[in-house]
Amino acid sequence: MEFRHLGRSGLKVSEISYGNWITHGSQVEEEAARQCVQAALDEGITTFDTADVYAGTKAEEVLGRALKGVRRESLEIFTKVYWPTGPGQNDRGLSRKHVTEAIHGSLRRLQTDYVDLYQAHRFDFETPLEETLKTFDDLVRQGKVLYVGVSEWSADQISQALKIADEMGFDRIVSNQPQYSMLWRVIESEIVPLSEREGVGQIVWSPIAQGVLTGKYLPGQPAPAGSRATDPTGGNFISRMLADDVLSRVQELKPIAADLGLSMAQLAVAWVLQNPNVSSAIVGASRPEQVRDNVKAAGVKLDDDVLKRIDDVLGPVVERDPGKTVSPPRRP
Ligand SMILES: NC(=O)c1ccc[n+]([C@@H]2O[C@H](COP(=O)([O-])OP(=O)(O)OC[C@H]3O[C@@H](n4cnc5c(N)ncnc54)[C@H](OP(=O)(O)O)[C@@H]3O)[C@@H](O)[C@H]2O)c1
Repeated sequence: MEFRHLGRSGLKVSEISYGNWITHGSQVEEEAARQCVQAALDEGITTFDTADVYAGTKAEEVLGRALKGVRRESLEIFTKVYWPTGPGQNDRGLSRKHVTEAIHGSLRRLQTDYVDLYQAHRFDFETPLEETLKTFDDLVRQGKVLYVGVSEWSADQISQALKIADEMGFDRIVSNQPQYSMLWRVIESEIVPLSEREGVGQIVWSPIAQGVLTGKYLPGQPAPAGSRATDPTGGNFISRMLADDVLSRVQELKPIAADLGLSMAQLAVAWVLQNPNVSSAIVGASRPEQVRDNVKAAGVKLDDDVLKRIDDVLGPVVERDPGKTVSPPRRP
């Protein structure tokens, strides 16, 4: 495993991290979840990402049990707050009340005294930014949270938060967690240049496009048994990536991966890691073999001619519109 700094902070993270969205507490049984976490640890992954909302809070519990007994100082545990975790008006969003209550729930479920990174899962238009940032700052001072970050915030929102933190002396955001893959490059035009200037690192999600970039989904054919596309929850999220023109072009990446002696998943993960503003690529897995496959992307260098071949193959199916980074206009 290779390690990178989380943005300009002193924290080091494994350049491949493990995330449990869709899988823990939902698509996969607890024993398979435990085996995936063990495979991640065996392969040198130290950074684990979850969120209170995953599987209706069950994912944090599964991860907490799977990591129990592992030396806490050798792990970086990340979680998030924003999406609803209960029926009430205040069981969601980034108000002082919800953020304070949410961190206590996450710490209890993860069985830890602190999280290394606490992330605002989306921007909350119904809470003054100062209120959220002050609350995050208080959690840092209380030692419940070591660093703060955001997820899927626009460049303008990140910029506003940094300005307020600087003016008020609050802890600064060190990371953003956006979707990023060969197919989804919406952060490149605005968020990455801002983040490079400001010392914010990207912890990128769905680097394999939820499995699509493995090439296992074939155009015009049913999804393979047991894959995310066949899962009732996962199927909704992956469907937007399953258009035939996308799947056909992904098949054409196979010779590029083969020429490099890489699996398709390794090529996809290595691709996001070529961006120096990426601190870590969060991979998901429904089976331990997938973790063992994906981690081999650590440290892989892709030459410019390989990057060009990939761009030529994917052509118009790559999404680059920075306007695709959006948070709900009202709390869900
Ligand atoms: N901040 C946010 O809003 C946000 C949103 C989404 C995700 N995330 C984070 O990012 C993490 C990763 O997201 P993701 O799970 O979508 O990432 P991903 O790595 O792009 O996709 C993971 C899925 O692809 C399939 N897969 C992975 N490796 C494979 C391999 N070697 N061969 C074949 N299939 C393989 C598996 O699904 P099947 O086996 O079921 O096909 C696996 O569960 C999440 O767990 C979460 O921590 C954050």
